[in-house]
This record gives sequence, C-alpha cells and structure tokens, in this order.
Amino acid sequence: MPLLAIESSCDETAVAIYGKSSSSDNNSLLASLISSQIELHKDLGGVVPELASRNHTQRISPLVAEALEKAGLSAQEIDAFAATGGPGLASSLTVGHSFAKGLALAAKKPFLSVNHMEGHLLSPFVGEEQIPPHLALIVSGGHTLLIRVRSVGDYQLLGQTLDDAAGEAFDKVAKMLELPYPGGPEIEKLAKTGDPTAFDFPRSMLNEDNLDFSFSGLKTSVLYTLKKLPNPRERLPDLCASFQAAVFEVLIAKALRAARREKLSLITLSGGVSCNATLREQLSAACHEEGLTFRSSPPSLSTDNAAMIAFAAYHRLRAGQTSSLSTDIDPNLKLA
Ligand code: KG4
Ligand code: ZN
Repeated sequence: MPLLAIESSCDETAVAIYGKSSSSDNNSLLASLISSQIELHKDLGGVVPELASRNHTQRISPLVAEALEKAGLSAQEIDAFAATGGPGLASSLTVGHSFAKGLALAAKKPFLSVNHMEGHLLSPFVGEEQIPPHLALIVSGGHTLLIRVRSVGDYQLLGQTLDDAAGEAFDKVAKMLELPYPGGPEIEKLAKTGDPTAFDFPRSMLNEDNLDFSFSGLKTSVLYTLKKLPNPRERLPDLCASFQAAVFEVLIAKALRAARREKLSLITLSGGVSCNATLREQLSAACHEEGLTFRSSPPSLSTDNAAMIAFAAYHRLRAGQTSSLSTDIDPNLKLA
C-alpha cells in the first residue's frame, strides 16, 4: 500500500513515499526528500510568502518524480495521495495540496488532507502500526502544544502558548542577537559553550496552576539585558545558554505536570525545536527520574518533512478516512 505525501506548509518542499518495500513485510519510508528554501530566505531574515510559494511551484514536480524513482515506483503504483492542508502559509499550502489532488484525480486514487501538527505529533512513531496513549509536547516554529493522545484522531488540547511559540522565540531572539535565520540551531550551537545560569531570565507561567505557556516576556527580557550590556557580542554564548535554559525549564515542568495530571506514563517530544539535543537530554532525564517513558522523533523527522505527513495519512487511511477533492486548505487548522 504505497502512499505518497507532499508537505509545503512553509519553506520546505518535501515529498515522501510510505509503504512496504519488496524486501520487507513492514511499512517503512521508501523515499523522503526535502528541498529547503533556507538559502532563498536567509538574507531576508525570514520566510517571504510569495517567494516561498513560487519556489514550491518550481520544485514540486521534479521532487515527486525523484521520490518515485527513489522508491522504484510509477505514479500508477501509488495507492493514495496526501498533502498538508494546514496550518501554515496559505499560498504555500495551496501548491502541495493542489498538486496532490491532481495526482489523485489522474490516478483515480484517494486523497487525504493532513493536519501538519498531526504529522509532528505522530512523528516519534514512524514505521509503527500502533500509537499508544501518551502525552505529546509539540514545539515548532508556529506552535507549542501539550496534547493528550488517546488514539489516532482522538486528541485533547491540554495547554498551549498564549503568545509566541517556542521556536518563534528562538527565531526572534536570534534576530536580536544578529544570528542567521533560522535561529534555533544557531542558538543551540552558541549555547554549548555558554553558562545557562549567567543571566536569570524569567520562567513565565512556571508556577501557575495551568498547562499554558508564554514566551514573549522572556524575549523582551533578553532585549533589555542586551541593551544594558557594554559588549553583548562577547556574551553571546552565555545569553544563548541562559535563554535556552529558561525556555526548556518551563517546557519540561509543564510536560511532566500534564503527564502526572492525566496519569500518562509516556511523553513524546516533536517539532522543530525538538532537534535541540539539550532539550531532548533534559526531558529524557526528567522522565527517567519520574519513572516515565520518553520518546522523541529522530532529528531528521523533527523539522518539517513529508514522511510525517505520509505516516499520519497512512493511519487515517487505515481507519477508513479520506478527503474529498474539494477540500480546501486552512491556514489556521486546529488539531484539537
Ligand atoms: O517544525 P518546524 O520545522 O516548522 C514549523 O512547523 O514551525 O520548526 C521550526 C522551528 C524554528 O523556529 C527553528 O528555529 C526551530 O524549529 N529549531 C530549533 C532547532 N532546530 C530548529 N530550535 C532550537 N534548537 C534547535 N536545534
Ligand atoms: Zn512543522
């Protein structure tokens, strides 16, 4: 049952094929290609929507052809076509969504419109048939979510950010520090040689009895600290390490609180910020201490990719769900 999925919600054009290979009975990734636009947007300090969508349009056809070739399949051998339907940039989403619908129409096969956040949510389980109940912490550029997962499609939102997403805070602070886009990996690199206790940045909402987050005060605090420092460039590692520590302390505390409250013994971590090795290590250690199991998506499936979209579509299709060819994209699509 090979299934082809397209992801084009922001600045990565990605195509993946998920199914059984000729040498195995288990489903796996037969192809997973990502064409990044980072170089295109780097000098502009962030993603420019019109440039992004035009670039998706250019890259999508050759990337689909390359994925089929890599999997050793023709378009006629694909049993379903999927694409990210939201959330994301409308003009970017439209490209992959329309392209996948066109492929489904031509091949007379089902189409599935997939929630990008469901892709992230399920990414720690790619290759598996069963999704166990768990507490999911999703930390991306646009979202910071705590979700109770009962089964595929049965999600309960427990907490979320009230302002900036965790990844967005990384990107904005990186911009203040004049680091290249995207900021997350740059901050992680510098933080490695810095002292996380050098600056006492605020842990917003840490002690409030809820599961929500707020990162905009932290961002402002970094800005004020920067303005007061005589030579901020000399303190970059300490600033990055201290900022990171403030973000991670709240993420970890609230994820553990949510798992305890909901009596869940498995915590998963996904989304672009989960590439950060310090966050993985700290959350893994905290889970271990509490006797909880920890799982995270592999770094290659943490930032935007089509493999997670194909995997989510596979589970939806298995449950008998498909989308109509008239399904529209939704830039603000909610997961729960
Ligand atoms: O999931 P993702 O690729 O895209 C969205 O759906 O938003 O997440 C991108 C976000 C960006 O904000 C980026 O700065 C952040 O993930 N990120 C990181 C790291 N790698 C990517 N944040 C912290 N540390 C990293 N190593
Ligand atoms: Zn994403």
